[in-house]
Parts: sequence; C-alpha cells; structure tokens
Amino acid sequence: MNPNEGKRSKLTRRDLLGTASLAGLGGALLSAPELRSQEPQYQVGKDPGTHQPIADFRFDLEATRGWVGEAGSAKEATVAEFPVSEHIAGVSMRLKPGGIRELHWHAIAAEWALVLKGAVMATVIAPNGAPATDIFEAGDIWYFPKGHGHALQNIGKDEAHFVLGFDDGHFSEFGTFSITDWVAQTSPSVVSRNLGLSQATVAGLPKKELYILPGTVPATIPEPYLADDLETSQNPHKFRLGKMAPIVFPGGWERIVTAREFPINTTLTSVMQYLEPGALREMHWHPNADEWQYYISGRARLTVFGAHGRARTEELGPGQVGFIQQGFGHYLEQVGSEPTKFFALFNSPTFEEISISKWLAANPRSLIADNFGIAKDELNRLPKKALGILK
Ligand SMILES: [Fe+2]
Ligand SMILES: [Fe+2]
Repeated sequence: MNPNEGKRSKLTRRDLLGTASLAGLGGALLSAPELRSQEPQYQVGKDPGTHQPIADFRFDLEATRGWVGEAGSAKEATVAEFPVSEHIAGVSMRLKPGGIRELHWHAIAAEWALVLKGAVMATVIAPNGAPATDIFEAGDIWYFPKGHGHALQNIGKDEAHFVLGFDDGHFSEFGTFSITDWVAQTSPSVVSRNLGLSQATVAGLPKKELYILPGTVPATIPEPYLADDLETSQNPHKFRLGKMAPIVFPGGWERIVTAREFPINTTLTSVMQYLEPGALREMHWHPNADEWQYYISGRARLTVFGAHGRARTEELGPGQVGFIQQGFGHYLEQVGSEPTKFFALFNSPTFEEISISKWLAANPRSLIADNFGIAKDELNRLPKKALGILK
C-alpha cells in the first residue's frame, strides 16, 4: 500500500508540490500519474479556505450625491467610497457654462480626464514655468503630472461633463490643494506682502476653499497670460482619444493610449472599448496594472477570477465603475440590445494583457491536452491567437 494513501483527503497544494519535488529528487514517493489521480479528491476550486471573498468591485458613482455647488458638481470614487480601488481614483465632474474648477494641484497623484460632453479649457503649469492652455472636447483626454498646478473652465454654452482619473486612490483626502484654501490659511500680512495686494483687497479674498465657482467665459480664447513673455509647454497635455484609429475585432473595437502615443502620460494607460450586442471580451488578465472602468452606455456582466476557487460576477451599466485588481483574471459579457461603451484606466504607462487564447496558443500541444484532459484532435479547435472581442 502506498504510505501516503491515508493522507490523500488532507493533502494540500503545498504537500503535493513538496511531494512532487521529492519525487523529482529520486524519493519516488508518488509517481506523476499517481499525483494526477489524487487531484480530483483535492478539489482545489471548491474551498476558498482562509481567503477572503473577492472584494466588491462595482461602485455606482453617478448614483452618489457628491459635492454640489451653484456652478457645478463632483462625485468621487476614492478609497473612502470604493475601498478595493487603492491605486486609482475617479471623479465625475460637471461644470455649468462659465463654471471654474479653481486653481489647485494634487500632491500625491497625476490627473487624467476624458471629456464626455461639452468644452473645457484647462491651463496647467510645469515646474520650469511653462504654461499650456488647451480646449478639450468630447473624446479628448488630458494628463497633468503630479503636482503641476491647474484650473479648468467650461467655455461652452452647455454643461460640460468629464470623468477624472488619478493614479492614487487616496488623492482627494490627502492631496488636493486649492489656492483659496491656502490663501485663507495664510496670515493677511504675508499674503499682502507676497502678492503685492493692499490689506483691504486681502481682507476681501475668499475665507475658505471655493472648489467650483461661477465664472465668465473670456471674450477671446486663449486669453493672454498674466505674464506676457512665457514660453509655452512643448509637451502636449492633450490627446484626441476619440479620433485615433481603433483596433477592430469581430465583436467591437478598442482604442488604446499608452505613454508611447501620449508621452507626458507617464503613469497611466487609457482604453476606450465598444462591445456590439452579444459580444464577449475574452478571458484575460493584465500583468502590470489594475483596471478601473467607467461605463458610458449599455450594459455588461463582468466576472472576476481571484484564484483559490473565487470568482464573482457583477452587472455594470451607465455611470457605474468596475475595478479589476492587477493580475486577476476577468472577462466581460455584453448585455442587452444597446451596444456597450466604456473606458478603462490602467495605472501603468504601458499596456499589458495576456488572454487565455494567446496563452494557450503559445504552449506545447501535448501539455495542453494533458492539462485539460482532452483528446489531441480537440486541440485544433482552440484559438491560435488573441481574440480580443468575440462576436
Ligand atoms: Fe485637478
Ligand atoms: Fe481587462
């Protein structure tokens, strides 16, 4: 009788691996076929053991109230609201015509945004003093490196709506610095001396952070800067995501913007995706980044595989955010008759994806047959390259 017979039901993966390596060293406690015959009793996929369930990865961002003021509003998804999303945060912001998101900077995060509606003028300064002013319309993205001061204004006739992304889930509570807040917290004599303003003018400055305030659209755009001798930035903060050529698949398309296409964008990758009704975004994972998704239109079912027998499915639709942790397997099934459009933000400047089809196609035939326990002639049915979005 095999000396390990009585232990079979209690074998762990570590036991099996340990036994296998001993066998490899000539201990010959169990042969490879014997090990394989034990695996069904081991039932890897049935017992999550001590692992926590997969964290909630759906957040209904647009259903929150957020911050509301007379000139605009903002709804946040930071770790406070959406704990799983530690490395990426998002804000859905709306500005009324003329509305200004005041001068501010982010101490711990770079800022990215995609404009969904309207026209937004943004001015940003780099540490070398070079400013840049651009107008962003639907389909355009911006990227402001960490700490670079900036302000936004809706210069259109209708409401502007854009979704901001930050490469740190804690960006808001620990790291957004507004100019009115700073000046209000500074002694009036220092403000007067530093800015050259009279004491009476300083006394009339805002007493606390304004955040979003009403403003007047300038008669000429762009307006001259306060200093008229500045060299403007040579490194564009704007990329026309909506205008780039898509990668087309049978069931939809993707537009992918990495640091290669948009060099100032050194920490994030943006992907716009479109799924035809009934499409399947194939099983895959991202080795180098988390994925933060915002659904613009249509619906999809997202299933995340978290190892140790854990998988979880959630349906997502307009205004909702989905999140997939780095390295977790996942796929999307389009739901409903309206095509599904969403964007995903990845916290890496390069895009990496391994799909199940690409992976299998790059393995020895007999190994796949043995791993799946399928006949070798079945192998020819397997895809030979990445499928992307299936019809
Ligand atoms: Fe900002
Ligand atoms: Fe993905």
